[in-house]
Amino acid sequence: MNEIDPGDPGKSKLAWSDDLTVGNRIIDDDHKAFFEIAKMLHDSDGTEDRDLVVESAISILEEYVCGHFLREEKAMRSAKYPRVAAHVLQHNLFRGRIEAIGRVYRQGTKSVAVGLPDMAIDWLITHIKSDDAQYKGWIRERDVDDRPLVYLAIEAEL
Ligand SMILES: [Fe+2]
Ligand SMILES: [Fe+2]
Repeated sequence: MNEIDPGDPGKSKLAWSDDLTVGNRIIDDDHKAFFEIAKMLHDSDGTEDRDLVVESAISILEEYVCGHFLREEKAMRSAKYPRVAAHVLQHNLFRGRIEAIGRVYRQGTKSVAVGLPDMAIDWLITHIKSDDAQYKGWIRERDVDDRPLVYLAIEAEL
């Protein structure tokens, strides 16, 4: 999964790497899944079923964003992490962007998906390194809701 394709340098950043760990396996797994979604979007470029892939990738991304952000926010609150508010604000801004892209795409402006994998991964890498990394050491295993992400996504909608 970490291999670099010399013919496609942009692709190399679409892989999770060990330096992105936040010290919790479940949260790391969520982050890895985001990379998989971005890679799926990237790989669909120029293929016949591009529209179908983009459509489902956007839906999965929306679900993952809601579920993963709730998982982190619950863990931070449970650990009494002091900088939750600023972190939640970053999550809300990104969720708003993804939801806006999904809306515009479904309204028929397909070009809005161009650059989505790069944008999502650039945001994610920066966010993991500058925000998620800060709760490393605060969050204990018992603070993290370990249910599958889909349950958290449903809870986030309530
Ligand atoms: Fe995260
Ligand atoms: Fe986060």
